[in-house]
Amino acid sequence: MTGLGTPGSPGVLLVLDGWGHAPPDRGNALALARTPFLDSIRATCPAGLLQASGEAVGLLPDTVGNSETGHLIIGAGRALPYDSLLVRQHIDSGAMRGHPRLNEMCAAAASADRALHLVGLCSDGQIHSDLNHLGVLLATAAAHRVPRVWVHAITDGRDVADGTAARYLAQVERLMADAGTGRLATVIGRGYAMDKSGRHDLTEAAVLAMADGRGLLRHRLREAAENPERGDEWVPPSVLAGTGDRPAATMADQDAVLFFNFRSDRVRQLVDGLADHLERTGRKTWLSSLAQYDTRAEVEPLTRRAGASGGLADELERARLLSVRIAEREKFEHVTYYLNGRDPRPRATEEHVRVVADSAPDYRRRPQMGLAQVVDAVCSAATRSDVALVVANLANIDVVGHTGDLGATVRAAEHTDAAVRRIAAVAGEQGRWMLAVGDHGNAEQMLQRGPDGAPLPYGGHTTNPVPVVVTGGAEHIAGRAMAEGGSLADVAPTVLKLLGREPGPAMEGSPLL
Ligand code: 3PG
Ligand code: CO
Repeated sequence: MTGLGTPGSPGVLLVLDGWGHAPPDRGNALALARTPFLDSIRATCPAGLLQASGEAVGLLPDTVGNSETGHLIIGAGRALPYDSLLVRQHIDSGAMRGHPRLNEMCAAAASADRALHLVGLCSDGQIHSDLNHLGVLLATAAAHRVPRVWVHAITDGRDVADGTAARYLAQVERLMADAGTGRLATVIGRGYAMDKSGRHDLTEAAVLAMADGRGLLRHRLREAAENPERGDEWVPPSVLAGTGDRPAATMADQDAVLFFNFRSDRVRQLVDGLADHLERTGRKTWLSSLAQYDTRAEVEPLTRRAGASGGLADELERARLLSVRIAEREKFEHVTYYLNGRDPRPRATEEHVRVVADSAPDYRRRPQMGLAQVVDAVCSAATRSDVALVVANLANIDVVGHTGDLGATVRAAEHTDAAVRRIAAVAGEQGRWMLAVGDHGNAEQMLQRGPDGAPLPYGGHTTNPVPVVVTGGAEHIAGRAMAEGGSLADVAPTVLKLLGREPGPAMEGSPLL
């Protein structure tokens, strides 16, 4: 890997989404794949492993990493406390139960004989939600004697093994029994309720079930919880029956609705859709969210997120260095909004390329996704002399990994290897360094032990470290060994150093080279 520049040469930052590291075994798609290029640069260039989960990236201990946190920390250059951790701190300190907005909502529902609706993802994937938080909300509602508390359960099968929805719904029932309040109102797969691709037909189906009780009427929870044909992610919007053939619950004027996901990207479209629908149909409701979603002003968050200024985007802006951000639709906000510390402000020092390869992608059958378009965009940006930094997310390993399909994920890794080879070649020709890094683990662990000990396909994330490797770069850097024991917080300082700049004063990570 040559392509040597001078100290402070322009570069390419590649995030290989879901690229984790684990010893080879039969569930490790990355070890099973033929990836000669990635293998060779990891063997011959400065390379190492970075922590991308748990406390090292601002999450609760031992929690799997995810793309939102991963890109946030890569961009911030420090381990910001993530929303799940902030919510937990508020719960542990008692601040959540005493929260004025939560108490006001519960007290209003109790005094006006109204219902509280709790809406969120029901699993222990720890990426979008946490059932312990639901337990605290139920207990608070019970303490206020809210007369009716309805849970609108979104089923997972993506962050956790598929076929587990019934188990998590049983856990929700136990939480309600322990709190002495709450009943399930709807059960809806996250494919509908947590679409983020602008498929408003999916969102509307979820909204109509939650707000109006219009969906598949189910008399028994078991019928709603099982969906062997399409899996937990695609449980059709199901409404539990109350008396006779009427839905147990609908959302009425003056009811309170609280969304308990802490991660915002996949719940936003639902929040907006539900708020619009309630407003259009003349229902005034109290709307709140456990964490900050940045949706409509009337959706009041119970927890505000940590500030993330002074990250890579701010430093590039300060130095007037142009960056081009490139990703497929699935990861576009990650290389823009999240990498920029959730600051949506447009910047003169940035250009964005959003690749949409397919409106209804079938990841198992097309594990290459829109990679060819991403690579073309990266290569063309890399040849521009006005661009200091090209930032791209290669989504395949993670997005295909989420299907739990080992063979398809092996192919995704092989496509990714070829893509990185092409990008590195162009970067080298242009005198650019290239830093490739994972944002969290996924594809290196595609089997999980089921309750009976037998291995089950697993498409979720992991706590494994992620590889990092630098090709090219100034000569004094290219020959160096990479520092050990780093985390994603060290990526931005490293990128700035490769660009010939100092880490930003707000950054706590250190250059890896
Ligand atoms: C998703 O929202 O797609 C998954 O729950 C998490 O995946 P990501 O963190 O890689 O986006
Ligand atoms: Co993922």
